[in-house]
Amino acid sequence: MNFWHGKQIIIGLGGGIAAYKTLEVIRRLREAGATIIPVPTVAALQFVTPLTLQALCGAPVRDALFSPLEPDGMDHIRLARQADLVIIAPATADLLARMAQGQADDLLTTLLLARHGPVLVAPAMNPAMWDHPATRRNVTILQEDGLLFTGPETGSMACGETGSGRMAEPATILEAARRALTPKILQGRRILITAGPTREELDPVRFISNHSSGKMGWEVALAALRAGAQVELIHGPVALPPPLGATTHAVDSACAMLAATLNCWLDQPGCDAAILTAAVADYRPATRQTDKIKKGDVARELTLELTPNPDILAMLSAWSGVRTRNGQQRVIVGFAAETGNALVRGREKLARKGCDLLAINDVSAPGCGFGADTNAVTLIGRDGRTADWPLLPKEQVAERLITTVAEFIAHPPPSNR
Ligand code: PMT
Repeated sequence: MNFWHGKQIIIGLGGGIAAYKTLEVIRRLREAGATIIPVPTVAALQFVTPLTLQALCGAPVRDALFSPLEPDGMDHIRLARQADLVIIAPATADLLARMAQGQADDLLTTLLLARHGPVLVAPAMNPAMWDHPATRRNVTILQEDGLLFTGPETGSMACGETGSGRMAEPATILEAARRALTPKILQGRRILITAGPTREELDPVRFISNHSSGKMGWEVALAALRAGAQVELIHGPVALPPPLGATTHAVDSACAMLAATLNCWLDQPGCDAAILTAAVADYRPATRQTDKIKKGDVARELTLELTPNPDILAMLSAWSGVRTRNGQQRVIVGFAAETGNALVRGREKLARKGCDLLAINDVSAPGCGFGADTNAVTLIGRDGRTADWPLLPKEQVAERLITTVAEFIAHPPPSNR
């Protein structure tokens, strides 16, 4: 099921021009299935009208601390308790100051005082106001109180100045909101992920590659980040924006991917798990020509000599000397792109490569594999486990995989090495 379906989100708006971006946050959350309760301050209503908020949220605006429409006058308590998440966007300097002081002079600040659950704050103000010692103090207080922050970002401001103070973009706020609500089952863990294709160059203008878009690896990286992990994402050439918070290592060839992977696997502090979704080229040209290969005046047959690439998954798995981190088993997960007879071939591959878990996907099946937004995976393990996951968005495949990896790290099967 969609993550946001059935979630109840309070959107608290302060009085800043960035409120126009909050409308997009509301729109996207509603589209994803969340219920939105808009709670603007008096100043916020100078920038967006109650009618705009009501139309976008499909719910009336809540802005009165003492509303005759509320039978018991306890709206602030009810709202504070029933919401899954409160997002304050934009959080102006004044609103941050009132929150840090624990003031309760309107519905929004009052419900924040009554709130026990997560609160996400997206500040927006002029750079000088953001840098002011008073604002810095207020932010520190609120962080110490456990409030979560996203942004502000650096760039040009509505006031014409440039600096730090732009409210985070809607996509960033949505991702931060999602992370605020995801259980931290990989907190303190460091996870290595490979993604995308590799390119094996023939000459300065040509290469051998494959159809991997990197989507599967990106979703695994996002799921790990949401679960609280530190992520090292080693990827071939892809056209995807870096996942927020991941350390990315862009490589081109299989040999470069191997070097980057070993660096992360063998460095200090090391990684707890490696999840290798990358479609690594099995072969590379035996020699790379320094000049462009010429066709000549008359086209002739061209024979390419290929040499095998190192197998990163098999190397990591065979390296028993470095199979633990802080005394705990490290988990190694491979992906197998198969076409037909997938389970049998997958079992052979698991035995040959020696990893702990193998996610088999039949890339010839509709909606599966390269470039698709969905995937159907059979997960098999050295311990004999088998799980069949139906066709799901890659996001959900990744979420299931991360849950399995977290369980594996916490409770390695006794049969495992
Ligand atoms: O990127 P997308 O467009 O989202 O597509 C996703 C995907 C189809 C690429 C992904 O789901 C997938 O199947 N990835 C593995 C592709 C692959 O190379 O499969 P393989 O069966 O050839 O390799 C098995 C495993 O060995 C993989 O974990 C691979 O990373 C690893 N390998 C392979 C060759 C090699 N030289 N070194 C390796 O480490």
